[in-house]
Amino acid sequence: MRIVHFSDIHIGRWPSGTSFLFDKRVLGLTNYFLRRRLGFQSALLAPAVSTIRALNPDWMVCTGDITTVGSPEEFQAVRDALAPLMADGLGQRLILVPGNHDVYVRNRACRAALEDCFAGCNASRWTLAELPQRVQASHLSLWVVDECCCTNWLLSSGRVSAVTAGQLEDWLEAPRVAGEKRILIGHFPLRDPAGVPLGWRRRLVGADRLAAALRDGRLDVSLCGHEHRPFVRREPSGSMEVCAGALLVWGKINVLDYCEASGRLTQTWVDVPWGAFPAPALPLPAPS
Ligand SMILES: [Fe+2]
Ligand SMILES: [Fe+2]
Repeated sequence: MRIVHFSDIHIGRWPSGTSFLFDKRVLGLTNYFLRRRLGFQSALLAPAVSTIRALNPDWMVCTGDITTVGSPEEFQAVRDALAPLMADGLGQRLILVPGNHDVYVRNRACRAALEDCFAGCNASRWTLAELPQRVQASHLSLWVVDECCCTNWLLSSGRVSAVTAGQLEDWLEAPRVAGEKRILIGHFPLRDPAGVPLGWRRRLVGADRLAAALRDGRLDVSLCGHEHRPFVRREPSGSMEVCAGALLVWGKINVLDYCEASGRLTQTWVDVPWGAFPAPALPLPAPS
């Protein structure tokens, strides 16, 4: 059983109309077009999608921030780019959760585009309001969570809602089926690579109980994005958190293989072929 995980595509498009001039999108777009875009190799997206397909995944997981300001134009561009992952029946294997950039503003058209993209990329299994959901894939139990809400201009944080926290607590308390591996799929890391909560502007509010579950082994894996530098953080219990980082900056794809014979999960990175593009200048932090 193989899970292929990627994150934080951050496609950017100039929105139509002028409504973006009067909300947070003007800040996000200014930042993107003047600064952030320079670090993103958008031409890497097509080879990344080909690489994901070639890895023959049983499940494909995207942990959000597919857009820059969550505009309809950006969601459409992402859906076009990810179309090969939904062709030939593959779409039944794709799981997408939103990131904070996908829930950027309280704008009706943006929200409708998010809902539409979420449904389309998740094979119409659920609406956003129906998360959290649990997908049983052989021994793997995939817990799909929406951690994002619209924030003010200063924040890029998320939260575990009371409803989500209650559901996750029930799943954590339930007896584990023999060989079961519990995998959380959300946008935000529970902790940074050093095991410390993220800064207050960028953290997941309400993450402590999940971080404790990962630490004591009641949760086996946390798959996430948000932090743009990829990392793997291992707990003494054997559990791990894997942040796939920004796909178009680092070109890293996280591959998680579950061996039914040994009951073990193995994590590896696969590099998108950089071809003519400049490879990232900084090395990845060593796994802890
Ligand atoms: Fe991001
Ligand atoms: Fe994010």
